[in-house]
Amino acid sequence: MEIITTVAEMKARVAAWKAEGLTIGLTPTMGALHEGHMSLMEAARSACDRVVTSVFVNPLQFGPDEDYDNYPRDLERDAGIAESKGVDVVFHPNVEEMYPENYNTYVVMETLTDTLCGASRPGHFRGVCTVVNKLFNIVQPDKAFFGQKDAQQLAVIRRMVRDLNMNVQVVGCPIVREEDGLAKSSRNTYLSAEERTAALVLSRAVAEGQRLMEAGERSAATVLDAMKQLIEAEPLARIDYVEMVSWDGIKPV
Ligand code: PAF
Repeated sequence: MEIITTVAEMKARVAAWKAEGLTIGLTPTMGALHEGHMSLMEAARSACDRVVTSVFVNPLQFGPDEDYDNYPRDLERDAGIAESKGVDVVFHPNVEEMYPENYNTYVVMETLTDTLCGASRPGHFRGVCTVVNKLFNIVQPDKAFFGQKDAQQLAVIRRMVRDLNMNVQVVGCPIVREEDGLAKSSRNTYLSAEERTAALVLSRAVAEGQRLMEAGERSAATVLDAMKQLIEAEPLARIDYVEMVSWDGIKPV
């Protein structure tokens, strides 16, 4: 497995693969890899001839008070994981390589990005769309793999690909959870033992919503109220949003 750090070298490798008629799978990540990322790599490995995993902590998608500086970074560990999953290239550019001096072009989506997580993270999806667009242009993947944990991100990227007629198939992969239900996330390492236990209220609330729906409840308000009550009973939890929305338009249902 190779680690490539420049856009020029990555593009040259892609051009050589394309000349051989090989298909390319991309798993975009910000590193701090966990089993969720590994499942994306496995999906890419089984679907494509060559697999590229990008490891780039994208400053554009972090707000001024967010954790850009402290975001966990360990390339050696990440490269070991990627290699064990059969990845061919880890693309690891630095910030100047992705956003050189006088960088001035951004991808802004008009709707879908100002609700849910976007409401409390202004500019986040502009950063995500811009970097994912750049990664697609550099790696030219046939398929790109994203986790369903970041459901809004997945919906936004699907819409961007559709709106801009991009030649890539976006594949959504199931959430990978710890045994007790906590969704795997690079940011779980920030949680104290007490907070980690409290965080389980999220998966319990989702399971409760699912249980009610499966039992025949068809009022979104009733399901959401039950979920909110469960979360509010956890003293360490503070709700940003609990919503039931359509996949495509991210509109309340
Ligand atoms: O989901 C992530 O890790 C990031 O948002 C992504 C898609 C790699 C873009 O930086």
